[in-house]
Amino acid sequence: MVTTFSSKRTETASNVPRGRQPQPATLVIFGAGGDLTKRLVVPALYHLVQSRELPDQFAIIGVDHDDQTTEQWRQNLTNMMRTSTPSGRLDVQAWSWLADRMHYFRADLTQAETFRNLNGLLVQQRAHNNATNVLFYLAVSERFFGPIVEQLGHAGLTQQTERAWRRVIIEKPFGHDLSSAKALNAQILGVLSEDQIYRIDHFLGKETVQNILVLRFANGIFEPLWNRNHIDNVQITAAETIGVEGRGRFYEQTGALRDMVPNHLFQLTAMIGMEPPISFDADAVRTKKTEFLQAIHPISPEHAVRGQYGGGIALGQKVQGYRHEPDVAPDSATETYVALKLGIDNWRWAGVPFYLRTGKRLSARMTEIAIQFRQAPYALFRDTPVERLPANILTLRIQPDEGLSVSFSAKRPGTEIEIYGVAMDFAYRDYFEPVATVGYETLIYDCLVGDATLFQRADTVEVTWRAVQGLIDSWSRDPTTDFPNYAGGSAGPVAADRLLACDGRAWLPIGADHPHAAIRPDVAGSVAAKVTP
Ligand code: BG6
Repeated sequence: MVTTFSSKRTETASNVPRGRQPQPATLVIFGAGGDLTKRLVVPALYHLVQSRELPDQFAIIGVDHDDQTTEQWRQNLTNMMRTSTPSGRLDVQAWSWLADRMHYFRADLTQAETFRNLNGLLVQQRAHNNATNVLFYLAVSERFFGPIVEQLGHAGLTQQTERAWRRVIIEKPFGHDLSSAKALNAQILGVLSEDQIYRIDHFLGKETVQNILVLRFANGIFEPLWNRNHIDNVQITAAETIGVEGRGRFYEQTGALRDMVPNHLFQLTAMIGMEPPISFDADAVRTKKTEFLQAIHPISPEHAVRGQYGGGIALGQKVQGYRHEPDVAPDSATETYVALKLGIDNWRWAGVPFYLRTGKRLSARMTEIAIQFRQAPYALFRDTPVERLPANILTLRIQPDEGLSVSFSAKRPGTEIEIYGVAMDFAYRDYFEPVATVGYETLIYDCLVGDATLFQRADTVEVTWRAVQGLIDSWSRDPTTDFPNYAGGSAGPVAADRLLACDGRAWLPIGADHPHAAIRPDVAGSVAAKVTP
């Protein structure tokens, strides 16, 4: 059974209608000394200060076990911000605004006393700035998620009133399989109501991902074509050039499938595949996404490819294989690459494969979605080499080089009908000022205003794990023997190419200069299609 999300819904401050202006609040960060806080949470808060999107009555309490004072914590973060801000130009006014509101609380997260003392600190804080609302951010290892929420509950810290909301942000990974995700949902829903829980998938913080809904539903031209009558296949790629970057211990337990597919890649898939919601209300959007994810067929091992990188040359540098990374077993069977073919069981998508691939140490960093349309009817091009006519492709470039392009055929000027593949391109940078972002600004802001649209609901998380559980089980029963099977810096294992070749299709290239390089005349040559009456 999927956990229902309304089981503990109560009439409190958190579900009365709100504007988009954050109310006074205290942010409590568990894991204040950790990497996530330093690299993402604090820089995102700084950017929110710069864009004046935090309430004046705002405070941060950082909780961790490191022995340091508030002054030392602030100083460490100031140093970090100075080195990470482009050209070292820290906006001192914005940073001081934030740093002055930071307090450090040294504590052991496993002790009940910590949470009683935290209660005392929040009372003091409230007397100082009148902020009754509290957002708890669990920037800690996943094993602490459940216990911290329980301790918050025991200390009465999750209790909401008409005038005070309490919300909790939970980081990824949310479970490591279906049963652990269900257990974690049950544990935290024993303390919190669903509308207090904000499960983060940081891909949803990316502007380009949020833009998918606008692209589809705020434009009249796409939706009529957005179905099996017109779309041949969808390809979703999240390619990385980095290896496991010192995260060997975590990665050995996780692998590419768990790390990227039921969360990030499925979120992208759902944005492309979901039905139009009746509004942009959080539950309207999340219900449609969840329904789409429920329609994914169980993935059979024949439709899945796993890979692990060996040594190679990536971005001009010699790189070692995964099995030589720190904290990785010399005979590790953990996959660093996965490619899947998904079938979707609904009227809109029946028969349209969604091909997904993600991997580390590939030839380029690129996250993109390519919607490949059916070829034009052949009749007009009889007696011509039509099999070389390119299909129309709509490419959504999520990162880097954010934008969108559409490829189509055009006649090259001249007496013969020669058809060329050309593309129209939209790049964000041509239209919009670049905004300093680490991708967490919108997510934190949305929590403060109580908008859960970009967060995963309990049932959504469980549905995504359910979709991959069969494959996880099958892969763990049947460890592969051919690892490593792709060179660092390559496009991935050849078996991934075969997955599409069996269907008469091919992946779009990773890391070509242009997303449509494969059909550019200078790369692929022209298509001469002389039409005979
Ligand atoms: C994380 C994964 O969730 O997402 C990492 O744990 C991965 O392994 C990262 O590198 C990718 O995110 P982004 O935003 O860098 O594409």
